[in-house]
Amino acid sequence: MQDKIHPVPAGWAESARVDDAAYQAMYQEALADPNGFWGRQAARLDWLKPFTKVKNTSYAPGAVSIKWFEDGALNVSANCVDRHVEARGDKVAILWEGDDPSESRRITYRELHREVQVFANVLLSLGVEKGDRVTLYMPMIPEAAFAMLACARIGAIHSVVFGGFSPDSLAGRISDCHSKLVITADEGVRGGRKVPLKHNTDLALTKTIGEEKVLVVRRTGAEVAMHAGRDFWYHEVAATVSEVCPPAEMNAEDPLFILYTSGSTGRPKGVLHTSGGYLLWASLTHELVFDLKEDDVFWCTADVGWVTGHSYIVYGPLANGATTVMFEGVPNYPSVSRCWEVIDKHAITIFYTAPTALRALMQAGDEPVKKTSRASLRLLGSVGEPINPEAWEWYWRVVGEGRCPIVDTWWQTETGGILISPLPGATDLKPGSATRPFFGVQPAIVDGEGNILEGATEGNLVLLDSWPGQMRTVYGDHERFEQTYFSTYKNMYFTGDGCRRDADGYYWITGRVDDVINVSGHRMGTAEVESALVSHPKVSEAAVVGYPHDIKGQGIYAYVTLMKGEAGSDALKKELVGWVRAEIGPIASPDLIQFAPGLPKTRSGKIMRRILRKIAEDEYGSLGDTSTLADPAVVDDLVANRQNRK
Ligand code: WT7
Repeated sequence: MQDKIHPVPAGWAESARVDDAAYQAMYQEALADPNGFWGRQAARLDWLKPFTKVKNTSYAPGAVSIKWFEDGALNVSANCVDRHVEARGDKVAILWEGDDPSESRRITYRELHREVQVFANVLLSLGVEKGDRVTLYMPMIPEAAFAMLACARIGAIHSVVFGGFSPDSLAGRISDCHSKLVITADEGVRGGRKVPLKHNTDLALTKTIGEEKVLVVRRTGAEVAMHAGRDFWYHEVAATVSEVCPPAEMNAEDPLFILYTSGSTGRPKGVLHTSGGYLLWASLTHELVFDLKEDDVFWCTADVGWVTGHSYIVYGPLANGATTVMFEGVPNYPSVSRCWEVIDKHAITIFYTAPTALRALMQAGDEPVKKTSRASLRLLGSVGEPINPEAWEWYWRVVGEGRCPIVDTWWQTETGGILISPLPGATDLKPGSATRPFFGVQPAIVDGEGNILEGATEGNLVLLDSWPGQMRTVYGDHERFEQTYFSTYKNMYFTGDGCRRDADGYYWITGRVDDVINVSGHRMGTAEVESALVSHPKVSEAAVVGYPHDIKGQGIYAYVTLMKGEAGSDALKKELVGWVRAEIGPIASPDLIQFAPGLPKTRSGKIMRRILRKIAEDEYGSLGDTSTLADPAVVDDLVANRQNRK
């Protein structure tokens, strides 16, 4: 079957920053001479001390080491704020849209400069020093960005924890990196509901060493408990500090942030990104993938608790002196027209969201979109999971009215920014394909043994060499970094994704091939959900797999074996869902629970997940070879009681 192709729209090749000839030339240039290419690209940043070395990276087994611009020095906040004040002082840096449509704030670059310096002085006054870790557990308010930039200004390492995570998850992340300070708010507001962030922080701190301080930003004015000597109101401390705080000189390889992400085993890993290479990557990809122009109003709908928010709400857009929209709410509040209304209200030109949101909005029909204008829109983006061609076409036809290219951007927390994506003036689009690699990105497709497959093929996606935005290590555990990403295939970075490459060299990401599931564009380790389930007193064993879900992309399917004497019931299912929400957070809620008297295991006791996945997909007719199971009869019970019947 011929793939559907949407050619680069008329005029785009001429007006865009990169056309196809430029793409080809720059791609070859970066491949042939990475030091020359990236040395020149890095001039887009302001350096306090110029670098003399560019690339120094190795994927060699047992000696993985990634350094870029290693003798250069810069300050990330100065690059995102100070250097724009002269030419763009009155330009809006952060355009904040509240959960309530009647609330918005415009923060200019001049105001941002002041806010970040005050915030940085508040951190200093609380004893935060260069290299210290600071955990942010914040709602989507401008203060979250101020806090990130303030950390960067003084050289503290931020670790943002998504506000939807539970107190337990927060505690684990605070403890893992030994944070000195937690920054939170009294409450968050989402979809008309309050989120008790300070209360959750109090609960989390009962499970840490208990030496952390807490800085509380006032958002709703709710009454919250303040522990004398430990908790401080931001506005009170801010009133006592100077408005001037010079940026610290940071080495290009000094850590900028840690972001915890789920993997196939164990607890979430602290992905570490450093200063120079990360900022270069966020800034360059933001400019070229989104064809950024001076007057654009850029809206990425992510939360700053995820990497998408780090790179494309805060660091990329601000490094580029752009206007970045920060949205506190959710796409369906007060109505399913909210996104389109916000686009009209702020004349947004570039809109970047996740397929799960599009699928949910698509279900409400075309009318809620069509009653808005969207005339300001010129480019659309997608991120987080494969976008199914139906959602792509709807995005193209209904939202973009056939005039806006769609950039389907593939990347990961680990990659720092976009790696595979169309460039809107250069790349013909195929719905469902992330298309071609960005400059310096060398994807390859390998078979199970790590043999590189050529031409049109399908297999596992690896990257053959480093790019400046690559994560540097797992915080505090370099061995785990090597083990996770470089041990499956020697001398290659393994992404964990399956992928197909077509005859035109376009890449089609097919989804995770490890025990990670992608629920509404969020990564969840099946092992984490399993460990939350087995911590319930009535559960003896649990196995969790993903299954196709119309809106979420993948849903969470849990097989649960109860303790002897316990009986499964709908009430117990509810209780278990509530338990997982409390242990991890609502994003980990199982969608389907099946009580199973036994799990399919090999004689050596290994759970055969292949079988569990098939049953969860309702594909029980093709279970394959079950003869190696210790007790093949358990399969019959699993099939008979399957929960997903199409
Ligand atoms: C995983 C990374 C990228 C920032 C948000 C998620 C999946 C991401 C795409 C895409 C198909 C995608 C992959 C990847 N993914 N973007 N455009 N097409 N799949 O970051 O939580 O680190 O998850 O998301 O499976 O490995 P993350």
